[in-house]
Amino acid sequence: MKEKILALIRNCEGYISGEELSSILGITRSAVWKYIKALKEDGYIIDSVTNKGYCLKSCGNVLNEIEVANGLKTKYIGKEILFFKKIDSTNEEIKRRALKGEEEGLTVVAEQQLLGKGRLGKSWTSPKGTGLWFSVLLRPQISPYYVSGITLAAGLAVCNAIREVTGCNAKIKWPNDVICGNKKLCGILTEMTAEADKIDYVVTGIGINVNTKEFPVDIEHKATSLYLETGEEIPRAKLLQRVLAYLEHYTEMFLDENQTDKMLNEYVELCATINRTVTTMRNQGEITGKAIGIGKSGELKVRLDNGQIISVTSGEVTVQGIY
Ligand code: BTN
Repeated sequence: MKEKILALIRNCEGYISGEELSSILGITRSAVWKYIKALKEDGYIIDSVTNKGYCLKSCGNVLNEIEVANGLKTKYIGKEILFFKKIDSTNEEIKRRALKGEEEGLTVVAEQQLLGKGRLGKSWTSPKGTGLWFSVLLRPQISPYYVSGITLAAGLAVCNAIREVTGCNAKIKWPNDVICGNKKLCGILTEMTAEADKIDYVVTGIGINVNTKEFPVDIEHKATSLYLETGEEIPRAKLLQRVLAYLEHYTEMFLDENQTDKMLNEYVELCATINRTVTTMRNQGEITGKAIGIGKSGELKVRLDNGQIISVTSGEVTVQGIY
């Protein structure tokens, strides 16, 4: 019933009276009022005016299946969305379901993660109400060798969605952190299960600091949120919807041989690592050079001081000037 009332106030022009709602739905006016109160408690901003009725002003910070699915125009990503108030990790939930044969595109979103995972075995703090913590199941028909392209597609998708929805000047730190200035806004953890030459499934887990007001002192010099960058509360459902749409767009682009280069060029345009001095580990020693481009399978091309060009495929890269 709550969903029906929401649909009616969403689709009417201006105000709809309690009387009209009660007669359409066959419930009393006081029952209508109770559902409106519940919707307000969920976070919907609803104006109630005597003699006029109710008007949905905005969805505020509400994050649920309805708000994400409403207007989502994808073919497979997010066609099924599962919401959890609390979960260990959305990546783990996707893995559990992938093993049971769940289809590509399944998206798991959590309001709070109790055991959020970051890269390199680190934990990822995922408090309730402020961020977007979600994972998507993909089953690309490619060799595991090319999986980093999917990771790049995810970074590019988040970066574009953030720019579109918030106007924030987001950039990508290779391979797939999304940053603003020199601080991190978003981290992506891609996990894969594969045989020698065939991927079984890929989990793309994305964590975006959306409406976080402050960070613990130990990370405030390197972490930021969209709220801190723009000074505005960002509608999480809208942002998630745009990330899912861009993720499908860029994943398809990467998988289509005729469009891979175009996707990689777009990536380079938004990549803050390119043209910067980077340091990484090689043969137990540290090497430094200038990042000059991205290769076909997502590797970072680095020109060393002696002119030699090397490919960096994984591991930590320190970029001068970024956290
Ligand atoms: C990183 O270390 O930068 C990657 C962080 C990835 C965090 C996201 S939040 C949603 C998904 N579930 C997890 O447990 N981790 C990823």
